[in-house]
Amino acid sequence: MAMIKIAMIGASVTFAGISVWWFLGKPRIFQASDYGQQANTSEKFYEKRDVDSKADGLEYSPKPKSALKRAQKLENLKEAKKTAAAAKNPAKEKEKQERRAKKIEEARRIKIWEDKTLPTAKVIKIRDSTEHRERRVKIQGWVHHLRREGKKLLFIQLRDGTGYLQCVLTNLLCSTYEAITLTTESSVTLFGKVMELPPGSHHKAPGDHELIVDYWELICGAPSGGPYSVLDKNTNFDLQLDNRHIVIRGTNTSKNLKAASLVTQLIREHHLDRGYMEVHPPCIVQTKTEGGSSLFELQYYGKKAYLTQSSQLYLESVIAALGDVFCIQKSFRAEKSRTRRHLSEFTHIEAEFNFITFENLLEKIEDLVVSVCDRITNPNNPLRQLVFEINPDFRTPRRPFKRMSYTEVIQYLKDNNIKKKDGTYFQPKDDIPEGAERTMINKLNEPILVCRFPAAWKPFYTKKCSDDPQLTESVDLLMPGVGEILGASMRTENYDELIKAFIEKKIEPSTYYWYSDQRKFGSCAHGGYGLGLERFLMWILKLPHICDACLYPRILDRCKP
Ligand code: 4AD
Repeated sequence: MAMIKIAMIGASVTFAGISVWWFLGKPRIFQASDYGQQANTSEKFYEKRDVDSKADGLEYSPKPKSALKRAQKLENLKEAKKTAAAAKNPAKEKEKQERRAKKIEEARRIKIWEDKTLPTAKVIKIRDSTEHRERRVKIQGWVHHLRREGKKLLFIQLRDGTGYLQCVLTNLLCSTYEAITLTTESSVTLFGKVMELPPGSHHKAPGDHELIVDYWELICGAPSGGPYSVLDKNTNFDLQLDNRHIVIRGTNTSKNLKAASLVTQLIREHHLDRGYMEVHPPCIVQTKTEGGSSLFELQYYGKKAYLTQSSQLYLESVIAALGDVFCIQKSFRAEKSRTRRHLSEFTHIEAEFNFITFENLLEKIEDLVVSVCDRITNPNNPLRQLVFEINPDFRTPRRPFKRMSYTEVIQYLKDNNIKKKDGTYFQPKDDIPEGAERTMINKLNEPILVCRFPAAWKPFYTKKCSDDPQLTESVDLLMPGVGEILGASMRTENYDELIKAFIEKKIEPSTYYWYSDQRKFGSCAHGGYGLGLERFLMWILKLPHICDACLYPRILDRCKP
């Protein structure tokens, strides 16, 4: 009941709030930049706020950001003031409301039209504004910010996905019913001249230019309060994810998504530049790659099938046909807990190389990371500025990366008093959990290639070390703040050894006939890697949670929106 009442008061007050701007002429600014999550760029971020130090996801409960809180506080304050004023003097309040209704009625009678004597407006996107300065243009987009100054001046910060543009509406243009009831997130068409801001201008606008509007049309309005009509004062992590379709319109989240798109392009560019061929393996499969516990099962025409955990096995089958190959594909893992770095569906960048050694593989991993980082920081790259805006500390790591064997890691954990959950030290053959791994990598604060994991922890396909069959030619790349972002290994190339590994791991080999056949038809030394795009982005952009790097995250119990 209480909830319903709050919601109802909120709606009516927000509506009245629009009139207040009109009648009292006070500016109202919605900071759309702060919808939902925000990247934190402070230097000691991870040390100060390890949002998931136990790596069980339970500590992560981001609170609404400060600007959102401020906007809500302001809204509540106004709400309280109005309720108090109405209670004190109901007659005055009634009179006020009648005056408002009259003004709205008057505004409805004001009509504006396009002056056909003006030059025909050219349709442009905001990113093209600079080259269209001094020309009449037509731009369509969404109201990102809204600011009213008196009755005759309205500033709209327009967003069209390609950028932001300050647009100025004056006189009758901001007196219509549509203008006085305009809300953030409404879609509009604006006509006018793009002008450069005068030098030394005291007010700032994106791109240092603004659109002097001569005519405009509302395409579709949005609920009063814009994004805050869905992100209320009770906004928590789950509510933000429920409303991800609105949250992604915010400046910070859309920046992350743009960076994700550009980093993906650079990763593709790197692989193509090296001469690797892109392929598209299937996502619906009948084989397990990384163990049965994280498989999503489905019915495929009445037969059991799975969503792929990794495209590796298919890539292995292609190297004899196309040479070195890569794919950028979704992988699926039924993760049973919510941590800050696990998704149930993630973007997997995988590559497979023929006739290589383990040392070659390590070099290829370094090459991938360093070349993508160099491409990001290249001064000619538009992505450069975006990444530095999100993470000013971003640097290309130096090659060669520090290498540690799994055995050395166990020793490091002991030497640095990093213990298991039960308070004891890690022993050889123990799996190293996420929390301990991250504590170590944050202390070392540089990329680490952890090599030679025990065979017991690695999947059936992993090649055993020739000097110790208990260990494997495998490697994980750990990055500060995130932990493992990439897993790689050499693959068992001998047919009999592979069949033995199937049996050891209790896997029925017959389903894998096409995989084993590669060991019969001209086997070769080969290996490859799998890089989690969202984890790579977490590291590049210093994001506290993997959901910040993902468009519509799929995590435990979440399959919407
Ligand atoms: O270490 P993983 O499980 O290795 C493989 O899947 C190999 N078959 C890859 C290969 O050699 N072609 O996964 C590789 C990477 C991890 O390091 C991590 O970055 C990402 O995939 N990853 C996940 N990212 C988000 N959520 C999850 N649940 C992930 N599981 C793995």
